[in-house]
Amino acid sequence: MRLTDKVAVVTGAGGGIGQAIINKLIEEGAKVLAVDLNDKALGCFADFDPELVQTFAADVSDFQQVEAMVNSAVMRFGKLDIMINNAGIGAAKPLLEHEPNADFDPISKVNQNGVYYGILAAGRQFQAQATPGVILNTSSVYAQMAAEMTFSYNVSKAAVDMMTKCAALELAPLGIRVCAVAPGRVDTPMLRQYEAIGLWNHISKEQMRKTFTQPSEIANIVAFLVSDEANCINGCTVSASDGFENFKYPLLG
Ligand SMILES: NC(=O)c1ccc[n+]([C@@H]2O[C@H](COP(=O)([O-])OP(=O)(O)OC[C@H]3O[C@@H](n4cnc5c(N)ncnc54)[C@H](O)[C@@H]3O)[C@@H](O)[C@H]2O)c1
Repeated sequence: MRLTDKVAVVTGAGGGIGQAIINKLIEEGAKVLAVDLNDKALGCFADFDPELVQTFAADVSDFQQVEAMVNSAVMRFGKLDIMINNAGIGAAKPLLEHEPNADFDPISKVNQNGVYYGILAAGRQFQAQATPGVILNTSSVYAQMAAEMTFSYNVSKAAVDMMTKCAALELAPLGIRVCAVAPGRVDTPMLRQYEAIGLWNHISKEQMRKTFTQPSEIANIVAFLVSDEANCINGCTVSASDGFENFKYPLLG
């Protein structure tokens, strides 16, 4: 097992990718504090062994709550080794129809501020412990691509990529590693908004092999990235998108 006795915090734990990450981390020997804004979503861990998984309701867009979740992991499991800033939200709307308070700020607060707060709280904890922890951020292929209707989301994920680089550089003297994973189209509740606007079939073909990635496939990459096997991967975003960003969707698709 690659993560024996490691202690991890995973945000967005009740969502598609978060749940899969937690299942995989446990399989690899870790203990996990599962964090989500949505108390009900955390119910999916009710039957898990409390020695391995504990839950904590918190909003990652509030720094005090993020500090509290890190403290809670340390209180319950004795330390922190791995911080996974995975919580994220998205919405599809044309730019010129935006109402900034509703269509930009909330996405920025969760996707950008939430990751920033997670880096800060975990980095300080690793410093206090004098241990070389790992921080893994969930980015997106959209961090580096323009796309219609998802202005706020793409901007927030571009910030995640840059925070990953800058944090890795500043925390390197402490032995801390920071990296990110960039999924493309993963079959989770987040993508179901495209079903409602009639684009489900279209987006199912945007990856090279014309299928959705499964959350467990992202979890496999995450478990590798936070393990010692990935020790030389630092300050970068690893694509896990079946080639999404590397080809043009065919005209006659
Ligand atoms: N699904 C995809 O195709 C895809 C592609 C690229 C990137 N991502 C990224 O993967 C991550 C996980 O997404 P997912 O597909 O599992 O989505 P999801 O909607 O299934 O899960 C997201 C979870 O985050 C939680 N959350 C939302 N706001 C929060 C907050 N303020 N504080 C704490 N928790 C909060 C939600 O309650 C939910 O349980 C996100 O960062 C998303 O941007 C997803």
